Amino acid sequence: MKLFLDTANLAQIKKLNAMGVVDGVTTNPTLVAKEPGEFEEIVKAICSEIRGDVSAEVVATDFDGMVAEAKHLSTLAPNVVVKIPMIPEGLRATKAISQRGIRVNMTLIFSANQGLLAAKAGASFVSPFIGRLDDIGQRGMDVVEDLVRIRDNYSLKAEVLVGSIRHPQHVLEAAKAGANIATMPPEVMEKMMQHPLTDAGLKRFLEDWEKAKKAKASITV
Ligand code: E4P
Repeated sequence: MKLFLDTANLAQIKKLNAMGVVDGVTTNPTLVAKEPGEFEEIVKAICSEIRGDVSAEVVATDFDGMVAEAKHLSTLAPNVVVKIPMIPEGLRATKAISQRGIRVNMTLIFSANQGLLAAKAGASFVSPFIGRLDDIGQRGMDVVEDLVRIRDNYSLKAEVLVGSIRHPQHVLEAAKAGANIATMPPEVMEKMMQHPLTDAGLKRFLEDWEKAKKAKASITV
């Protein structure tokens, strides 16, 4: 399973990428708006830091606008994937863009049927948003499980990219369900590394080491 970071913060991307655990990055207009600097420069910088796919989202909502933005975004770097919202015009744009060889990540997917349509239109990635579904009392992981089953039933090429992840349990569930990718805020990836028993175990090892060193030193004196 691939692990992506869901952020436009270059410092956080660099920090986690140095640990060898980042396969790609997803951004969205909200995430980019939080960072200083120009959108295109931010995307280019992330693309040169990360070897894998980097999603950058269009802000137009009409067919011509989305296609024009997608064409432009795809020139920024070879690893750019264009994010298109799951609306009827977005499906039309996805068909046109993907036929030109530009990879599309269809975003804002909240049902398996939306994901099925996105895959059919030619999206390379379909992005169900699970945390936002959980927030309204629906089990977001149901959509992931359904999409994985549909992908496998019909050997669809589209990868299931789980977004709107809120905590490490979401990542684990997405992995067990067979999703291709989980994209998460940097804080969630950091939490995945942590366990209190790891910290306690390391503390104990180092204390025992120090004690033994002192004991050996006192015997030799
Ligand atoms: C995915 O590509 C989206 O950027 C993201 O996961 C949205 O998550 P949110 O619900 O935390 O905003």
